[in-house]
Amino acid sequence: MDRLPGFRDFYPEPLPHKDVWSADARCYIFDTWKKIAHRYGFREYDGPPLEPLELYTLKSGEEIVGQLYNFTDKGDRNVSMRPEMTPTLARMIAAHERNYRKPIKWFSIPQLFRYERQQKGRLREHFQLNADIFGEASSSADAEIICLLIDILRAFGLTAEDFVIRLSSRRAWSEFFSKRCPDPSKAYEFYQIVDKLEREEPDVSKQKLAALGFSYEEVTAFIASGEPTEELKAILDNLSARGFADFVKVDYGVIRGLAYYTGPVFEAFDRKGHFRAIAGGGRYDNLTNLISGGKFDPASNTVKGGKVDIPSLGFGMGDVVLTELLKERGLLPAFSPSADVCVLIEDETLRSQSLSAVQTLRDADFSTEYSLVPLKAEKQFKRAIELKARWTFRMEKQENGTPICIVKNMATREEHRFTSIKEAVQYFKSNF
Ligand code: HAM
Repeated sequence: MDRLPGFRDFYPEPLPHKDVWSADARCYIFDTWKKIAHRYGFREYDGPPLEPLELYTLKSGEEIVGQLYNFTDKGDRNVSMRPEMTPTLARMIAAHERNYRKPIKWFSIPQLFRYERQQKGRLREHFQLNADIFGEASSSADAEIICLLIDILRAFGLTAEDFVIRLSSRRAWSEFFSKRCPDPSKAYEFYQIVDKLEREEPDVSKQKLAALGFSYEEVTAFIASGEPTEELKAILDNLSARGFADFVKVDYGVIRGLAYYTGPVFEAFDRKGHFRAIAGGGRYDNLTNLISGGKFDPASNTVKGGKVDIPSLGFGMGDVVLTELLKERGLLPAFSPSADVCVLIEDETLRSQSLSAVQTLRDADFSTEYSLVPLKAEKQFKRAIELKARWTFRMEKQENGTPICIVKNMATREEHRFTSIKEAVQYFKSNF
């Protein structure tokens, strides 16, 4: 039976087929994400993979709602697999933000599900690092979140020559829109057209913009002007102070497809333009308010009346584009099975004592392998070589019948003899 289109199997390396993904590479990516998020003081959270449908119909925007894996459950509830983490996080924050000191800095690595047309860099499930900050309205928080994104990509060996953060402002676009169109209910439709400008045929975009009363030329002229707002300038200064100026450029061609963004927005792209966005995010100051019962107020162009109102921003970075990019640049390490110690059982009458040695070694935190069934000595040794074991350990009966432990250093082939397992483990510990 085949797996569903757009879903992946993850195998340990070496991979048996080009159509499967590396579980080792995934683990490496997750570990790197976590390491750098911790370095920036972010703490891990998680939420349910299945949520009430309404959580997404509320404010993610039509595009993502059209891609939902939704159904009615056995209790007649309208539910959906999560297509993104931000609404779940906003719900969690709205419920318990008071219990946490501000700014709240959290990350998570959820698996997300979107019924998208399968294409390069886009599947029907992906893992996405989400890093978000709550409770800080200053643009220093926007700079901090962008620096985290830059440092994560640097941790994979990518440089300013490999990727760029395209920085824009939903607020600037919102002002552009409201000066020309009095109907705020059309704003999201407009943002969607701008979001697709680079991927759509110009004539199609022209027609769609004209239907909303905009000319293609005024929109592209605004993008070309690239004049940073005060807010964007503050972010750029902050990044420059850290030596990160080369990693960012102001680019109003970015607007973000999701409906809830309110301020600075950004996307990370490979400079060669071979891939879709590596990551995307921005400020979404109204979402917790909306999720906690607030309503959109067209007069102020904000959400009002919710139980919780807290400045919010963050980004998501998927594993699909990142893996493809790292692969293309030769930046993914090769992975193979390994062990610290291989216990060789050459004398089956010593299997019980050898099992005791295996357990003692594992208790002492050494990754330890051995043959589950009787096997020729040469085959066991060959396996130790394949596993790139640092040492082999075997037991041998002396003439008087008592066993001794023999440890071989696989690099030097030097052997050491010990009268007890404990002594041998002590040797491993002091030579590890
Ligand atoms: P997004 O732009 O929809 O944002 O997704 C963020 C990243 O996830 C994309 O840049 C891409 O790397 C990856 N991604 C998205 N869809 C797919 C897919 N179908 N297949 C593979 N990778 C994909 C969000 O989801 C926001 N909730 C991010 C955010 C967090 N904003 C604020 N906080």
